[in-house]
Amino acid sequence: MAKQIKKLNVAMIGHGFMGRAHSNAFRQVGCFFDPPYQLQLKVICGRNRGEVEAFAAKWGWEEAQTDWQSVVVKKDVDVVDICAPNHLHAPIAIAAAKAGKIVLCEKPLAMHVTEAEQMANAARGAPNLVWFNYRRVPAIAFAKQLIDRGQVGSPYHYRATYLQSWGGDPDQAGVWRFRRSEAGSGAMGDLLSHSLDLALLLNGPITEVSSLIETFMPGREVDDAVLTLARFANGSIGSFEATRLATGCQNRNYFEIHGSDGAIRFDLEDLNRLEVFDRNDTADIQGAHNVMVTGPGHPYSSHFWPPGHIIGYEHTFIATLSDFLNCLSKQESFHPNFDDAVEVQKLMDAIQSAAQRKTWVSIAAPSSVLRRSS
Ligand SMILES: NC(=O)c1ccc[n+]([C@@H]2O[C@H](COP(=O)([O-])OP(=O)(O)OC[C@H]3O[C@@H](n4cnc5c(N)ncnc54)[C@H](O)[C@@H]3O)[C@@H](O)[C@H]2O)c1
Repeated sequence: MAKQIKKLNVAMIGHGFMGRAHSNAFRQVGCFFDPPYQLQLKVICGRNRGEVEAFAAKWGWEEAQTDWQSVVVKKDVDVVDICAPNHLHAPIAIAAAKAGKIVLCEKPLAMHVTEAEQMANAARGAPNLVWFNYRRVPAIAFAKQLIDRGQVGSPYHYRATYLQSWGGDPDQAGVWRFRRSEAGSGAMGDLLSHSLDLALLLNGPITEVSSLIETFMPGREVDDAVLTLARFANGSIGSFEATRLATGCQNRNYFEIHGSDGAIRFDLEDLNRLEVFDRNDTADIQGAHNVMVTGPGHPYSSHFWPPGHIIGYEHTFIATLSDFLNCLSKQESFHPNFDDAVEVQKLMDAIQSAAQRKTWVSIAAPSSVLRRSS
């Protein structure tokens, strides 16, 4: 007898860049993976009826709506997915959580840490996800495996840059990403949040930060660039740079970690590859191994294409969704969730404060670390 698969009706708020990436993931996850749920693209919500209806027709959503308040309480909706500008994350997520929905939310989770904590409290006990999708780039998931098995030894340096260049484009001047009331911050929430999430995943908690934040463009309400120095709880030191004014770079989400036994480097603009350096190689072949992380044996590789048949940006959302649905069916908590994103938000608030006060700022240990050490 065929296995009964439960249906989940999804409502998505926002149908821009992320609306497309998520719609694609909802449609594709059952093709590449065998998720324990069947996803129904039930309601798509935006502001302009004509645009929402066109999007619904193109991506296969059943209903098009323009009022998110009524969508998140609909009885026939199980999952609310938030792809709207940052200032709407909290009101939508809190209303959806109160209505008993599973909540998926884009990053940065909130406008500031207090709001992020309110969201995490509202969603406590209910399944939730934050779309820090880069954790599921196979090469980054593989980097995590290598680090956990001791490939880099004791880490000394963590270095991350997230470099884009569109911030100087006059055609982009009117976008919500430059309005403080809608975005909260600039390169910080948009780009640095991803780098911080990966650093916490790969190198553990950060204990203190100092920073420099700059707005170059006249009249702009949010930061164009942020530079941060950090100390990690494991004794290593880190540097972070995020900017929308890195002429010549489009989406250079890069990190490297150097340790006593090796090093690892990743660049999203070449996302199928990971550079791995092993100090234990004999001296005559010392150098980086340029590993193509498309299998065999690499994370997610058996679900995508045969080895060497590269994957793209969209696969990171598909893999994230697959892992989430598996956790959901096993009643396990998924990471990164709202609580994980609160830690990123704490760091961003500390970085803001360090820049304003021109001093080092300490970060309180996450409650899970405090629990473990007490
Ligand atoms: N995970 C990632 O890598 C990644 C990448 C880009 C953006 N993001 C995040 O995704 C979110 C959306 O970004 P985007 O690039 O898709 O933006 P976008 O401007 O392309 O799309 C925003 C969408 O929200 C809709 N919207 C705005 N106000 C609304 C309202 N009141 N009711 C309903 N819909 C409303 C707009 O109509 C639009 O469809 C942001 O939080 C952003 O930080 C994440």
